[in-house]
Amino acid sequence: MAHLHYNHSIVVKGSSSTSTSSDQQVNLDSEKLQPNRAYENETHQFGYLVSDVDWQVRRMVETEEEMRKVAYVQAEAFHEPVFLFDDLFLDFFKAEVLSGLLYRLRNSPPDRYACLVAEPRSDDQESNKELAGVVDVTVLREDSVLEHLPGAEEYLYVSGIAVLNKFRRQKVATTLLKACDILSAIWGFEYLALRAYEDDYGARKLYSNAGYRVVSGDSPWTTTWIGRRRRVLMVKRSNIQ
Ligand SMILES: CC(C)(COP(=O)(O)OP(=O)(O)OC[C@H]1O[C@@H](n2cnc3c(N)ncnc32)[C@H](O)[C@@H]1OP(=O)(O)O)[C@@H](O)C(=O)NCCC(=O)NCCS
Repeated sequence: MAHLHYNHSIVVKGSSSTSTSSDQQVNLDSEKLQPNRAYENETHQFGYLVSDVDWQVRRMVETEEEMRKVAYVQAEAFHEPVFLFDDLFLDFFKAEVLSGLLYRLRNSPPDRYACLVAEPRSDDQESNKELAGVVDVTVLREDSVLEHLPGAEEYLYVSGIAVLNKFRRQKVATTLLKACDILSAIWGFEYLALRAYEDDYGARKLYSNAGYRVVSGDSPWTTTWIGRRRRVLMVKRSNIQ
């Protein structure tokens, strides 16, 4: 059963910390990233957007520890293994992902960007759970998407969905997508949109199972000869009111 309780007054804690990806050092200035205590308590008590038998999905808490876990999940899921230098490249990639996350948090109001995290279900609120998967949700208004969404002025864009290898094919991503639907209802948006690689049949099946339909593709001249994989745009109308 989904829990719809959510604290709208949550304020993203800004920080003047610096981040650089080039030298692998992402300085998070942990003092400034101390979580808002009230927020943290609300999140643990009421903040699960979805809570089913196996997985619980909530908004990321802005602590250095949790942000590093998110970066690890996305880096592990998206990085392409590189022979010989693999650990080094994974570290670079993690730093890159973390910088991107910090940038989005600092530049987006809390009701227009959220990073959602999935963790194994456990009734022990205090246990230090591993994150199994993550997803980014952003309010956008791109014309090329809006033209497929009758009457909409904005929509929720779902991106960066990633599940740690060892948790795959256990419905973590499916549960994250359910949480995106619930967030769209809470934030008051009718449509969700995302892009998938045209030839990524696993991801496309995941999205179509969740109710997304392909409405357009990259233009035909965006072919592999320029080194870019073609993508498809998929949209759905939220089924939660
Ligand atoms: C794609 C990804 C997020 C799926 O996460 P997941 O938690 O394993 O997905 P789920 O268990 O919820 O899958 C639900 C359904 O989607 C389909 N599916 C998911 N992954 C699939 C795969 N690798 N191959 C074929 N079908 C797949 C299946 O129909 C699956 O149901 P089933 O297991 O009963 O057959 C995960 O594989 C991942 O992190 N990949 C790397 C990052 C990435 O590619 N992200 C997507 C960018 S568009």
